[in-house]
Amino acid sequence: VVLTQDDLKKIAAFKAVEFVQSGMVVGLGTGSTAKHAVDRIAHLLRQGKLKNIIGIPTSKKTHQQALSLGIPLSDLDSHPTIDLSIDGADEVDPDFNLVKGRGGSLLREKMIESASKKFIVIVDETKLVKHVGANGAMPVEVVPFCWKFTQESLQKLFDYAGCEAKLRSTSVGGGEKGEAFVTDNGNYIVDLFFKRDIGDLKAAGDAILRLAGVVEHGMFIDMATTVVVAGEHGVRLMP
Ligand code: A5P
Repeated sequence: VVLTQDDLKKIAAFKAVEFVQSGMVVGLGTGSTAKHAVDRIAHLLRQGKLKNIIGIPTSKKTHQQALSLGIPLSDLDSHPTIDLSIDGADEVDPDFNLVKGRGGSLLREKMIESASKKFIVIVDETKLVKHVGANGAMPVEVVPFCWKFTQESLQKLFDYAGCEAKLRSTSVGGGEKGEAFVTDNGNYIVDLFFKRDIGDLKAAGDAILRLAGVVEHGMFIDMATTVVVAGEHGVRLMP
């Protein structure tokens, strides 16, 4: 049997849901991998194998999915401590630093996953990288007000890494001609592409956050407590 990438996402998601116990407050991630975890939680609730779960969705899309499946939902205001969050990622490095937000939900994801006692990341093995930020967009959520100014500031900040900063657009193939992509919070996304290593991730992240027009960035440093990786040869937990 040849497993598709979606099969691997599902295998990782199902494995992570084994850690969900009745009575838990659970952060529900966003994206094509996390979607399987939400489906699985709903299935176990219907079967009565899980009880009294409260889901905290990380996006409007996940909220919609979980609502339609009948998962009881709440938010961070009512549940400031979350037992466990399960979410996908775009990149995972050997220290479990992540890039997230290529789906656009980085802000709510970071708020909820930072407030979680455990954060399980679910990926297929194509997401494993040596250095985060070297393999595609590093998303930054910015306020729409004078976004070009913020975009240019971001590009200048990472001039040393050969950075190209692009406003994310809704048009297929991207570019700045289409409509700007708008996040659940009414903001824009500037995607950073690096030609060279950005160096210390924590320092880079802090420098991004010091720019006044920035809301949040997609580097999730020291946040994941477990990474579940599904590959052709099976599923494994790290560390
Ligand atoms: C959403 O903004 C992202 O952070 C997702 O968690 C990430 O893009 C992973 O999505 P997939 O599981 O669809 O690859």
